[in-house]
Amino acid sequence: MSRILIEGGVQLSGTAQVHGAKNAALPILAATVLNEGVNIIHNCPPLKDVNITVEMLKYLGAHVEREGDSLIVDTRGRLGNHIPEKLMRQLRSSIVFMGAIVARNKKAKISAPGGCELGPRPIDLHIKALRELGVKIKESHGYIICNGEKMHGREIHLSFPSVGATENIMLAASLAEGKTIIQNVAKEPEIEDLAVFLNKMGAKIKGAGSSRIEIDGVEKLSAAEHSVMPDRIVATTYLCSAAITGGEVTLTKVIPEHLSACVACLRDSGCDITVGDDWIKLIAPKRLKAVSEIKTMPYPGFPTDAQSLFLAMLTVAEGTSIIKENIFESRFKPAEELVRMGADVMVDGRIAVVRGVSNLSGAVVSAADLRGGASLVVAALSADGLTEIENPHYIDRGYAELLEVLSKLGAKIKRVEY
Ligand code: UD1
Repeated sequence: MSRILIEGGVQLSGTAQVHGAKNAALPILAATVLNEGVNIIHNCPPLKDVNITVEMLKYLGAHVEREGDSLIVDTRGRLGNHIPEKLMRQLRSSIVFMGAIVARNKKAKISAPGGCELGPRPIDLHIKALRELGVKIKESHGYIICNGEKMHGREIHLSFPSVGATENIMLAASLAEGKTIIQNVAKEPEIEDLAVFLNKMGAKIKGAGSSRIEIDGVEKLSAAEHSVMPDRIVATTYLCSAAITGGEVTLTKVIPEHLSACVACLRDSGCDITVGDDWIKLIAPKRLKAVSEIKTMPYPGFPTDAQSLFLAMLTVAEGTSIIKENIFESRFKPAEELVRMGADVMVDGRIAVVRGVSNLSGAVVSAADLRGGASLVVAALSADGLTEIENPHYIDRGYAELLEVLSKLGAKIKRVEY
C-alpha cells in the first residue's frame, strides 16, 4: 500500500516534458497484432496501462522488449486467439484486441473488459459494428466469442462517436475484404495517430480526424516504426497544476492544437497562455476566475478526461463555475474528496456547481479513478498543509514520473509505502 503526500502552497515554475499518450499507445500496441514482424513503437511511457497491454501481447505469444521509451513488439509466428478474464478486466481499452485478433486469426475469444469505474461503459457499439462487418459474435459466460471467417467491408453508422468502437472497426476493417465507410466516427487525435500507424503498416485509411473514415481492406500488413503522439491529458494536468498554484510553467513535446478546448477554459480563468509549434507556456493570475460553463463533449469539444482536473482547479477560483459531464455519468467522484479539503461543490446528476473558496486545506483523501486521482493532486498542490492521497495506483495507470516532474517544478511531493 502506498500514499502520495503533498505539502501544498508552492507556486510551480519551470519546464517539463510531456510523455507519450496512453490512449494512443494502447490501440497502436493492439494494432501490431495485425502484422507478422518487428514493430518499433517510440514514446511509449512505462505506465501501468501500457504494461498491462504488453502483458496481453505476451499472453497472445508476441515478444515484447522495452528499450528506454521504446517498445519492440515482435508479432512473428503464431499468436493466440484468447485473452483471459484476469487480464481483460484490468483495462477497458483491452476491448480493441477484439478487432485486432479477429482480423489476424479470424477467431477471437475475450472476456468483457474492465477499467476505471466511470459509470456504465457498454460495448454494444463495438459488437454491433463488428457484426456489421460480418463477424459472427456469441456472448457466453462472460466471454465474447468471434468468428470472422466471412468478414467484409461495409458502410457503418455509429450512433455515438465512441473512441474505442472507432478504433475496433479501424483495426478489423484494415484486413477485411472490400471497402468500409464509417460515419459519425470519433475525431480524437488518438484516432488519427492510430490511422497513421496503420497506414505505415500498409493499411489504406482515409479521413481519420474527420467524422467519416474510409478504409480499403488489404490482404496483408507489415511491421512499422512509429512515435506515439504526446499525451494531451497529462499536459492538461500540468497546466492545471501550474494554474492552481499561481505558477508559471512551460511544457515541451506537446501538440498545442490538441489542447485548444482546455486552453480556452484556462484563458477564461485568467491564465496567460502562449503557444509555439511543440510547446506551451502558462502564466497564472494571482487568483483564478470562475468559468461560467464547461461541457464535456467528444473532440474537439472539452475532453471528459480533463473535467476532474478543471473541477479541482476551479474550487479556488473567484466566483461560481458550472460543469456538465456529458460522456461518463460517474465522473464527479472526486467532488466528495474535494469537499473534505474545504471545497464548495454541489453535484446533481451530470452537473457540478463549484463555488470558489479562497483556499483548500490538506486532508486525507482517496483516489477512485485515474483522472479523479490526478485532480486530487492538482487540488493538494494549492492546499494549506499536508494532503495524503490514498490509492495512488489509479494515478499510476496514466502518469509516468508524475512525482519527479512535479518535484522538478518545485512541488513538495513524495510517495510513502506503508
Ligand atoms: C476513450 C478513452 C477515455 C476517454 C473516452 C472519451 C482510451 C483508452 N480511453 O474511452 O480516456 O474518457 O474515450 O473521450 O482511449 N459507449 C456506449 N457503447 C459502446 C461504447 C461507448 O454506449 O459500445 C458510450 C460510453 O458509455 C460513454 C461514451 O460512449 O458514455 C464514450 O465512450 P468511448 O468514446 O467509447 O470511450 P472509450 O473508448 O471507452
